Amino acid sequence: MERRVLIVEDEAISRNHLRLILQEEGYQVRAVPSAEEAIRHLTEEDVSCVLCDWRLPGMDGMELLGWVRRYHPETPVVIMTAYATIENAVSAMGQGAADYLAKPFGIEQVRLVLARVLERQDLQREVVRLRSEVSRRYSFDQILGRSPGMLKVFEVIRAVAETDATVLIQGETGVGKELVARSIHAHSLRKDGPFVAVNCGALAEALLETELFGHEKGAFTGAIRHREGRIDLAQRGTLFLDEVSEMSPAMQVRLLRVLQEGTYERVGGTETIRANVRVIAATNRDLRPLMATGAFREDLYYRLHVVPVEVPPLRERREDIPLLALHFLAEFRRQFGRSVDAFGREALDQMLAYSWPGNVRELRHVVERAVLLNQTTVIERLDLARGDRPPRGRQATDCPEPSGMPLREFLVEAERRYWRDLLDRQRGNVTAALKEAQVPSKTFYRRIRALGVDPRDHRSRDEPGTPKPE
Ligand SMILES: Nc1ncnc2c1ncn2[C@@H]1O[C@H](COP(=O)(O)OP(=O)(O)OP(=O)(O)O)[C@@H](O)[C@H]1O
Ligand SMILES: [Mg+2]
Repeated sequence: MERRVLIVEDEAISRNHLRLILQEEGYQVRAVPSAEEAIRHLTEEDVSCVLCDWRLPGMDGMELLGWVRRYHPETPVVIMTAYATIENAVSAMGQGAADYLAKPFGIEQVRLVLARVLERQDLQREVVRLRSEVSRRYSFDQILGRSPGMLKVFEVIRAVAETDATVLIQGETGVGKELVARSIHAHSLRKDGPFVAVNCGALAEALLETELFGHEKGAFTGAIRHREGRIDLAQRGTLFLDEVSEMSPAMQVRLLRVLQEGTYERVGGTETIRANVRVIAATNRDLRPLMATGAFREDLYYRLHVVPVEVPPLRERREDIPLLALHFLAEFRRQFGRSVDAFGREALDQMLAYSWPGNVRELRHVVERAVLLNQTTVIERLDLARGDRPPRGRQATDCPEPSGMPLREFLVEAERRYWRDLLDRQRGNVTAALKEAQVPSKTFYRRIRALGVDPRDHRSRDEPGTPKPE
């Protein structure tokens, strides 16, 4: 593919010099003296990369960078800046510049930076982009899935929805049990009735009892008036009992009666009320061992277990991961008004390799954070709390892909890269590096120590015998 580079440089000699260098390199080059002209050019023609001076008459380099990020987010911008203003370069990276060149620079540096930026852009094209039809094709209501495990769940939902059978949904935390429960309700004959959820694990026994069954006036101190319970509220609808394993033995007896006889009494009440509710229960704990110890009643188990639904953990249905990730990307892109619309290859590999202990809920949070922090249209890398991947070696981070990092980390990485490139250019010679950087040696040592950069690592590093940390 033809590479078109747009140079924006007000100084005529530099501009023409750079133009010649890049033409020699085989690029199609267009060179303009101002940001305003650059914008005119960019609106008319596609450009692979913009090489832009920081200081320009009129609109400056940073403003142009902002404009390109906004209207041509896929076009990388390289900022050219003087030594003394390395902070500017770092802040330009923070604003989404693809890279920077410290002036004066040699042919070799331009060649390297451009190659790196354009290569990264190629990699970015290897992305999975949002396509709304994907989620529509592989979903059941709001529940996404194409894995055999989820297709089986959909089948069960379809089969039981129109019956009034009690359903027990089992699965790890965050796999989507509540979503399944709501979907069963939405397809049932009771769909116009209420769906009432009760978390049995969140309330102490006495509270759960009055919450579920309601109470009569005077039932206990403070019961100054009659209060309806969740079962009352769920009449002609569905009662969803979440974390059912956490019910006390006494509560289990009361629930059993609702299931067996379809009746209950309010706390402190004598009237027997008919419970016209369908019960769907969920648990993230295996109930069988609890039955063995007597913590969960066997008769209740079999009453709940009429129709069991197993929602598999995410790591056992990896084919659903990209589908879900794109779905959440669309959700948060809309919510935060961002233009990000794709995952890069590495982010995808990360997702597929990770074990997802928090399942779909965790995936959703990870994507949310990535959308919030991402500066470009592509999410390159994810920040996974408990990464299963081996730690990355220093060599591997030499060319950081900053767009997926939190801003702070990204700035640190940008600065680290500046010192490393400098030391590479000077082959680890500190005196020469100090001269080029034009900073006091005290500052130099303070910064490189803070960033973990060691000049000795940069002494002709491609020769054998140079220690390379793993
Ligand atoms: N297959 C799916 N498609 C789309 N969104 C899903 C899917 N599974 C889960 N989610 C989303 O993930 C989050 C967690 O799901 P949900 O609350 O249903 O999990 P849960 O199994 O009830 O978890 P817990 O055991 O912690 O109560 C919700 O935001 C839900 O919308
Ligand atoms: Mg839940």
